[in-house]
Amino acid sequence: MTVANSLRLERQADGLAWLWIDQPDRITNTLSPGLLAELEGVLQALAPMPPRGLVIASAKAAGFIAGADIRVLAGLESGAAARDLAARGWAVFQRLAAAPYPTLALIRGHCLGGGLELALACRYRIVVDEPGTRLALPEVLLGIIPGWGGMARLPALIGSAQALNLMLTGKGVDARRAKGLGLADACVPPRVMENAARILVVSGQPARRLPWFQRLANGPLKALVARQAGRQLAARVRREHYPAPYAILATWARFGGDPRAVPPASPASLESLLAHPATASLMRVFFLQERLKGLAKAVDFAPAYVHVVGAGVMGGDIAALCAGAGLRVTLQDQSIERIAPAIARAARGFQRKFRGDGRQIRLALDRLIPDPAGLGAGRADVIIEAIVEDLAAKQALFAELERRARPQALLATNTSSLGLGQIAAALADPARLVGLHFFNPVALMPLVEVVRGPATDPALLACSLAFVRRLDKLPLAVADSPGFLVNAVLAPYLLEALRCVEEGLAPEAVDAALVAFGMPVGPVELADTIGLDVALAAGRVLGGAAEPPRLLQERVAAGLLGKKSGQGFYRWEGGRRVGQVHPEMGSAAARADLARRIINPLITATERCVAQGVVADGDLADAGVIFGAGFAPFTGGPLHFKARGGVSTP
Ligand code: NAI
Repeated sequence: MTVANSLRLERQADGLAWLWIDQPDRITNTLSPGLLAELEGVLQALAPMPPRGLVIASAKAAGFIAGADIRVLAGLESGAAARDLAARGWAVFQRLAAAPYPTLALIRGHCLGGGLELALACRYRIVVDEPGTRLALPEVLLGIIPGWGGMARLPALIGSAQALNLMLTGKGVDARRAKGLGLADACVPPRVMENAARILVVSGQPARRLPWFQRLANGPLKALVARQAGRQLAARVRREHYPAPYAILATWARFGGDPRAVPPASPASLESLLAHPATASLMRVFFLQERLKGLAKAVDFAPAYVHVVGAGVMGGDIAALCAGAGLRVTLQDQSIERIAPAIARAARGFQRKFRGDGRQIRLALDRLIPDPAGLGAGRADVIIEAIVEDLAAKQALFAELERRARPQALLATNTSSLGLGQIAAALADPARLVGLHFFNPVALMPLVEVVRGPATDPALLACSLAFVRRLDKLPLAVADSPGFLVNAVLAPYLLEALRCVEEGLAPEAVDAALVAFGMPVGPVELADTIGLDVALAAGRVLGGAAEPPRLLQERVAAGLLGKKSGQGFYRWEGGRRVGQVHPEMGSAAARADLARRIINPLITATERCVAQGVVADGDLADAGVIFGAGFAPFTGGPLHFKARGGVSTP
């Protein structure tokens, strides 16, 4: 047995060699330059006495390899350093791919970025059929590219269409999908994984080869495929905001997926990517996300049972989220008729979440129990209230819940506009109440604001942060102040956009300016989606001294409430907006001026929230506005954007 720092090579009597990856002092493995050097050393050591086969596996409980070490990537100071790192990884993986003996990656848990590139350099891959197994090349989300051979090997293995889809979006696949795509040769349950690896690696089975018609797309039809992918990409992201997917496409199409072959002056080069401000901003967003996840690590809180009161838009979806995450859930409302639509919606959501896997869907539905009598309140670890936004109703409910709940149960409200202090006044022990402010749509929005009321017990707050992580959401601790963080910064932004409409600009022009800026949807469309009545109420509370735009008040008075009523600033049919936002509307300069005007109030409000201590610091504020309000990630957040000179307050 050879022991290096992070790699353990075990030569067995049957002639097989097992290479265990186990970086010291870390929960997961990451591919640091040190680990690459160790791998090279192992391959060198094996050369004089080749094994019958080499199996590469992780010795960690958590995952195969989480990717390249992002801190190393973020610390790259020059294009030359990036090129050097790409060349090193490329050479080591090439050596692995060229090994004269068969090689196999045994993948359990996450296998991301450089980890997947390593697995792709092996002759075979086995994935372990577990919920945590996930394979992805997420580099694009960090503004960089898979530089260690993945851009060449993935299209050759699974075809260019599927490979481009994975590389250009950064999306992951689970074990079964990996097998279906041909990314893995076998998908096996954990108990047989080592045996399966032993058998496959010496099977002599030829490495997977693409059918001839798919090989065409990597050969003679490549230019055509690249043009089509380029058109689809342009419809989704703008090159000036997100250069990395364009670089990936160009490197695949013109340089055989080899970043070393791209001339430094090309916009697709590592040098150009590293110099682009979006790259540093996206890495920043990654670290912010890690920081939010880290906030939840302070305590070990493992609830098993959640009771949700209110089966409306929010409560129904929160209950489904909890059940989908493996928790037992009871869902209470005033009658079974009010609960039924939430269960039907959850069933549709589980279909999507579990990709039609009947067993998983059934189990999730079994965990979601309609409870009109509210019997679950006495058994739950966490009770979440999501009834109508009415102080007296919430107070009455909490007074009763407090009497019935277990003494250690967490009591949470999803209120968006009432003060926690006011609601908690109805409790014998106000320290028990926290806010868990989910965003709509619950399934899609990554952030949950965890609200600290004036009396909230800090220990319960820590448990709440952990609970939010258990649901795979990002928790952000905020103070009990009107609108918390996200609504407090969104309201002035929406109002400014509607003022522009009131001044005579077309809603389409306003939305086009903000979409061109990089927002996922324009503010007028967002107001229509939230509901104009809700936007008006929020505007009255959070919009400062100025009256909300008259146009908004008139629409609400006329019952034109946006998406939910079929007409607001836009017309809506079947939940979809009629007509298209055209990001090219108006001149570029006019669009930029308009975007600046509308974004300025959002930046000012974010600064105010930091000054008032609604969030602990500017970085957390940026994180909250990106993950809770969808603020364009390539900017690195509103405060970062301003600090870089993006917008100056007039
Ligand atoms: P909703 O009107 O869709 O649902 C409320 C549900 O609560 C109804 O089904 C109603 O029958 C039920 N209910 C009312 N009183 C009850 C009681 N005493 N016991 C049991 N059930 C009762 O409301 P929605 O939109 O889901 O909002 C719920 C809460 O979530 C509110 O506090 C709201 O401010 C907050 N919120 C709403 C967001 C949104 O976008 N709709 C976003 C974030 C928070």
